[in-house]
Amino acid sequence: MKVKNYLFLALLAIQGVDFAEAQQKTFTVQVDKATEEINPNMWGVFFEDINMGADGGLYAELVKNRSFEFFRPMMGWKNLGTVKEGNYLILNRKADKESNPRYLRVNTMNSDGNAIGLVNEGFRGMGVKKDVSYEFSILYKQIKPGIEVKVELVDTTGQVIGSSKFIPEKTTTGWQKGSVSFSSNKTESKAKLNVWFEGKGEVDLDMISLFPSDTWKGRKNGLRADMVQVLADLKPGFIRFPGGCIVEGFDLSQRFQWKKTVGPIEDRQLIVNRWNTEFAHRLTPDYFQTFGLGFFEYFQLAEDIGAEPLPIINCGMACQFNTGEVVPLDELDPYVQDALDLIEFANAGTNTKWGKLRADMGHPEPFNLKMLGVGNENWGPQYIERLEAFRKVLKKHHPAIEIVASSGTDPEGERFEYLNKELRAMDIDIIDEHFYRSPEWFLSNASRYDHYDRQGPKIFAGEYASHSTKSKRPEYKNNWEAALSEAAFLTGVERNASVVQLASYAPLFAHIDGWQWTPDLIWVDNLKVFPSPSYQVQKMYSTNKGSHIVPILENGKTIAGDEKFYASAVIDKNANELIVKLVNNSDKKENITLDLQGIKRSSSTGKSLFLQNIDPLAINEVGKTPSVVPQEKSIQVKGKKAILDAEPFSFQVVKISL
Ligand code: AHR
Repeated sequence: MKVKNYLFLALLAIQGVDFAEAQQKTFTVQVDKATEEINPNMWGVFFEDINMGADGGLYAELVKNRSFEFFRPMMGWKNLGTVKEGNYLILNRKADKESNPRYLRVNTMNSDGNAIGLVNEGFRGMGVKKDVSYEFSILYKQIKPGIEVKVELVDTTGQVIGSSKFIPEKTTTGWQKGSVSFSSNKTESKAKLNVWFEGKGEVDLDMISLFPSDTWKGRKNGLRADMVQVLADLKPGFIRFPGGCIVEGFDLSQRFQWKKTVGPIEDRQLIVNRWNTEFAHRLTPDYFQTFGLGFFEYFQLAEDIGAEPLPIINCGMACQFNTGEVVPLDELDPYVQDALDLIEFANAGTNTKWGKLRADMGHPEPFNLKMLGVGNENWGPQYIERLEAFRKVLKKHHPAIEIVASSGTDPEGERFEYLNKELRAMDIDIIDEHFYRSPEWFLSNASRYDHYDRQGPKIFAGEYASHSTKSKRPEYKNNWEAALSEAAFLTGVERNASVVQLASYAPLFAHIDGWQWTPDLIWVDNLKVFPSPSYQVQKMYSTNKGSHIVPILENGKTIAGDEKFYASAVIDKNANELIVKLVNNSDKKENITLDLQGIKRSSSTGKSLFLQNIDPLAINEVGKTPSVVPQEKSIQVKGKKAILDAEPFSFQVVKISL
């Protein structure tokens, strides 16, 4: 044995891991007792523009503050060349165009022959790839024709890695759109865009934009393909959007209003992102919502990845952690109307106002909206009163649409108890529960849903994440300890799939240079995605979901944490397969026999897809080889017995053909 191996064993011994002493256990799987169905759309994703999830993330725009609407109009831009007084002017046409008031006037009439320009820093730089084409586009209005626009991508050393020239048409009047495409000759994660104004003239500019051509499905001005792909790989049953607290806003003026996120891109009214100043230790003053990823794009994304759309709308209340502003009940109608119009936008014929807009945007077919959330993390009687007003109208006009209602910020306590009682009394369709808790909480709550009322409202485990306190670096709270505790908890969610109809981890994305909140499911930099251990757990559930629950027991009892084992079992009637999820949260390896009851015999082999790491602090770090990735091994099946190894600190999905 090599020295390295001795050292490894010594390290395991110090940590108390004893591989030699494998234990024996028998779990009984009542394969013929498949009574309760699993919602095929149970495992989904929660998307919010937090941590630069949309702007600077999923939305592939590379230019920050493209329309000069940020709080400081030139945020993200810096001068190039010798800029003189009067070369640049920010104009505001608010009376004419409230949705996009500011634009930039460039005047080079006093030019000495040397060009001036502006450089845009992107969202923590711009991620560009060798040989990929980039489209530079701009809105312009000629005042005194003569300026030509040279664009350059530059790397971190200032080296030009791609360039082109855009010549605005000279004889036009009014606002025009122009574009030019060019390639990068280098892959660079922190590129910048130089925009040079050559020649003498005066021109108004707005919506200065740069998009890659390799977007998801090659859509013009679309989404980052790698980020959508990592979602699609989860085969999510639903996508909840647009959040989260951004639905509520810091105050009501900053609430999310879906109507301002649809239609022509230059008319979508930008607002500050409420995560901009939420956390003093992670201030992100340049975080705004441009709504390039708006409600049309969210619905389209849902369709692309085969997920049911689950929009959440504001219920007439701003975030209760911030201003807690509420709309008087007698002024709630416009909010309720927004909900009705949203259903029209998603589902109605093209002969309706909002159905026509959907068609004009490129999707005449309906999006088949079936669920609608009213409010996010709202609480108290003020929420119940407003929800009731929505419920009455929505049920009258759209009885088939299921209403998702908030049970507040916590999964227990006074607020939760109150809301839970009221929502059940109201017979709301689906209750949205949120839990950001410690690994210990997740481990000890694996039985949470075992006793929930089967006849009452369905549950949406809408936002959950295990928050480990052991990681030294805050961005890596989503270590293996956290993910394993989620895997354990989710056995209880799956076992109770007849009541928990929907489940999603939150938040979804985080940019390594622009995050506010941790832990998160998927980390990204400007070029790549880095799924966390929690992502791998979610994926093992969502891609092995089965169709019916079957009991799995040890000595006649549910396996939910006694001796640190957690298990759930389902069968997939279409594939005729048994799928067992099994967590070993102990430092001992265990030999487990699955006693398959109620079947004649099974196939002679099965497979185990597993995640394992003896280090609770193991992470999948941005830019590094991941430490927690699924592996596969085959398992022995003899007649009605399957023999497994449950490695210390492991989660496995066992699949046996029946
Ligand atoms: O997921 C992050 C935030 O957590 C969500 O915006 C909010 O709903 C919850 O408090």
